[in-house]
Order: sequence, then C-alpha cells, then structure tokens
Amino acid sequence: MKSTLSIIAVLASAASSLAQNITIPATNGSLPKAGANGCAPGYYPGTDTVIFTVPYTYQQVLLIIGNYTNLTWSGSPDNSVTTNNSQALVANNWTPGSARFYDIAGAHVIETITTYSKPANGPYVEIHTVAPLSIPSVNVSFYSDFDGQVWKPICNGAATWSNFTINFCATNATTAASVLHQLHTTDAMTVGTFLGGKNFTSCGVLAGGNGTVTPSAFGGANGTAASGPSATASPIAYTGDAVGRHGLIA
Ligand SMILES: *[C@@H]1O[C@H](CO)[C@@H](O)[C@H](O)[C@H]1NC(C)=O
Ligand SMILES: *[C@@H]1O[C@H](CO)[C@@H](O)[C@H](O)[C@H]1NC(C)=O
Ligand SMILES: *[C@@H]1O[C@H](CO)[C@@H](O)[C@H](O)[C@H]1NC(C)=O
Ligand SMILES: *[C@@H]1O[C@H](CO)[C@@H](O)[C@H](O)[C@H]1NC(C)=O
Ligand SMILES: *[C@@H]1O[C@H](CO)[C@@H](O)[C@H](O)[C@H]1NC(C)=O
Ligand SMILES: *[C@@H]1O[C@H](CO)[C@@H](O)[C@H](O)[C@H]1NC(C)=O
Ligand SMILES: *[C@@H]1O[C@H](CO)[C@@H](O)[C@H](O)[C@H]1NC(C)=O
Ligand SMILES: *[C@@H]1O[C@H](CO)[C@@H](O)[C@H](O)[C@H]1NC(C)=O
Ligand SMILES: *[C@@H]1O[C@H](CO)[C@@H](O)[C@H](O)[C@H]1NC(C)=O
Ligand SMILES: *[C@@H]1O[C@H](CO)[C@@H](O)[C@H](O)[C@H]1NC(C)=O
Ligand SMILES: *[C@@H]1O[C@H](CO)[C@@H](O)[C@H](O)[C@H]1NC(C)=O
Repeated sequence: MKSTLSIIAVLASAASSLAQNITIPATNGSLPKAGANGCAPGYYPGTDTVIFTVPYTYQQVLLIIGNYTNLTWSGSPDNSVTTNNSQALVANNWTPGSARFYDIAGAHVIETITTYSKPANGPYVEIHTVAPLSIPSVNVSFYSDFDGQVWKPICNGAATWSNFTINFCATNATTAASVLHQLHTTDAMTVGTFLGGKNFTSCGVLAGGNGTVTPSAFGGANGTAASGPSATASPIAYTGDAVGRHGLIA
C-alpha cells in the first residue's frame, strides 16, 4: 500500500500546485452522458492494460483479491472501504450493482460492479465502473465504464496470469493512463509480494509447472512483444517477474 501512495506522491511532486476548475458531473456513482467523442465535455477517451504473472496458484491469489471490499493489496487498509451491499460483505458473494466506496490520493472512489465471476478453478473476472473522480495532485479527473480484471491459472496451475484493463474518459488521457498503469502494476506486484515475493520467470522452473505452457500462449505476456507507447517513468522489464504492457488510444 505504501508503494501505491508513494507513486502518487512522486507524480504529485512533479506537478505544481494546481488550481482546478473541473466540474465533476456526478459523485453518486452514476456516469455522465457521453458526447461526440464518447466522453462528457472536457473529457477524452483512453485505455490502459497491464499484464502480469505471479508464480502463485489461483487459489492463493483469490485469498488476496477475492473480496471486493478488501483492497489491502491495492493500498487501502482494512476497514477503509465501505459498500452498499452489506449482505455480500458477510457472504462474499458480490453481484452486479454492488458498489464500494473509499478515498485514496485525495480522490473519493465509487466503483460499481457490472460483472463478477469467481469460479473455483478460474478465471476470476471482475469488472466495475468508476464514477467521476479527481486526483488533485496530478490535476486529472476521470471516470470509467469498464475497469476490469481477469486472473487465470497458467503453468499447469502453478502460476496465475492477470489482465488489468481500463477504458476511461479523462481530462488528460495521458496523465490518467500513466497513473492507472502505475497503480495497476503496483497492485499486481503487491499480490505477488503478499504471497511471498517471488518473481515469475517461466513455467518450467515452477514445481508442478511442467513447462508445457508458456505465458506467451496467453497473449504477449512474455514482455518482448508489442508494447504501447510508454507513459510511465519505469517500464516493466521482463527480467523475471513482471510483464507489463499498455496502450494509449486517444
Ligand atoms: C488542470 O487540468 C485542466 C484540464 O486538463 C487544464 O485545463 C488546466 O490547465 C490544468 N491546470 C494546471 C495548473 O495545469
Ligand atoms: C470555472 O468554470 C466556470 C464554468 O466554466 C467559470 O464560470 C469560472 O469562471 C471558472 N473559474 C475559474 C477560476 O476559472
Ligand atoms: C446522481 O447524480 C446525478 C447528477 O447530480 C443525478 O442526475 C442523478 O439523479 C443522481 N442519481 C441518484 C441515484 O441519486
Ligand atoms: C449501490 O451504489 C451504486 C452506485 O451509487 C448504485 O448504482 C447501486 O444501485 C447501489 N446499490 C444498492 C443495492 O443500493
Ligand atoms: C484482507 O485481505 C488480507 C490479505 O490480502 C488479509 O490478510 C486480511 O485479513 C483481510 N482483511 C479482512 C478484514 O478480511
Ligand atoms: C471482506 O472484506 C471486508 C473488508 O476488508 C471485511 O469486513 C469482510 O468481513 C470480508 N468478508 C469476508 C467474507 O471475508
Ligand atoms: C497532459 O498531461 C501531460 C503530463 O502528463 C502534459 O504534458 C500535457 O501537456 C497535458 N495535456 C493537456 C492537454 O493538458
Ligand atoms: C522481483 O522483481 C522486482 C522488480 O524487478 C525486484 O525489485 C525484486 O528484487 C525481485 N525479487 C526477487 C525475489 O527476485
Ligand atoms: C504437463 O501438464 C499437462 C497438464 O496437466 C499434461 O497434460 C502434460 O502431460 C504434462 N507434461 C509433462 C511432460 O509432464
Ligand atoms: C485484456 O483484457 C482486455 C479487456 O477485456 C482485452 O481487450 C485484451 O485483449 C486483453 N489482453 C490480453 C493480452 O488478453
Ligand atoms: C513472445 O511472445 C510473442 C507473441 O506474443 C512471440 O512471437 C515471441 O516468440 C515470444 N518470445 C519469446 C522469447 O517467447
């Protein structure tokens, strides 16, 4: 969680003190009506993807990520995330329409589930909307109708592959993509850190991962394939663990 916040701090230090005059169309969870470019006035479309593999099983990963209101792996401490689905809080059976609410980096976040699927053997699919929010330190506001994660077992079950993809509308799509890329990369890496901190290299070196499946079979995940334009200060190198990739579509 500290790393998430420090990333924001680093970005913040690069920005001067900012006088904002951005109207947030809604703060109650609803998304604004799209204009000609698909976004509300003053907002521009963008997208970002992070692909990341951790050398831990799908079941282990679910223990970290499988509760919609437990975002300790994403920088929000226990008891800092609330929901309007108190029944799911107890049963952990999240459904579309459930929202979570939390504050991070000066932003009030409202994320409402549109798709939630958590079968025992994967893949885990969780997609939510993000209501309009602002991150004052980097002078950006954005919202999303698709902020999705997929986690699925690879390497004969010995590792778990993830795809974080967000489609968004932002007041500055470059800034938003950079912030979201760093957040999602940190989130994925934190899952691995929580489970023991080993980095993924290949299926073959994992116990039980008999090497018949390579991560590249799951979509450019070896890090050597096409990458989008780099919006981040530190691209993720394929030196063992991380396989990062993103694109910017204006
Ligand atoms: C903050 O962002 C808005 C919208 O992109 C822009 O119009 C404004 O100039 C920015 N303010 C500063 C101080 O950079
Ligand atoms: C903020 O935007 C509103 C609406 O466009 C405008 O009336 C107002 O003058 C702006 N304020 C500043 C400080 O730019
Ligand atoms: C949410 O806020 C928007 C904009 O203020 C408003 O149009 C809408 O009716 C509100 N929705 C609910 C459910 O309160
Ligand atoms: C939870 O909040 C979201 C976002 O405001 C809203 O769309 C949804 O209808 C709410 N669900 C319930 C059960 O109140
Ligand atoms: C949240 O998840 C973490 C694992 O990431 C776990 O250690 C912690 O106990 C969970 N918190 C609650 C309140 O369930
Ligand atoms: C899910 O996480 C929330 C907040 O961290 C916690 O209060 C709740 O008990 C957890 N639910 C389950 C079923 O572990
Ligand atoms: C968007 O932010 C970038 C820095 O992330 C800045 O270089 C650029 O000028 C901004 N664009 C606009 C239109 O404000
Ligand atoms: C895993 O990779 C990260 C980022 O490249 C690095 O900082 C860390 O030391 C590595 N951990 C291990 C156990 O090799
Ligand atoms: C590797 O695992 C797969 C899936 O369980 C199995 O079909 C295959 O025969 C195994 N290969 C070897 C060399 O053990
Ligand atoms: C990641 O997910 C997005 C959204 O579903 C999808 O468009 C994209 O093709 C996926 N990338 C890979 C490498 O599977
Ligand atoms: C990496 O993946 C690409 C396709 O996604 C493939 O063409 C390439 O051969 C792979 N490279 C290695 C070293 O596995």
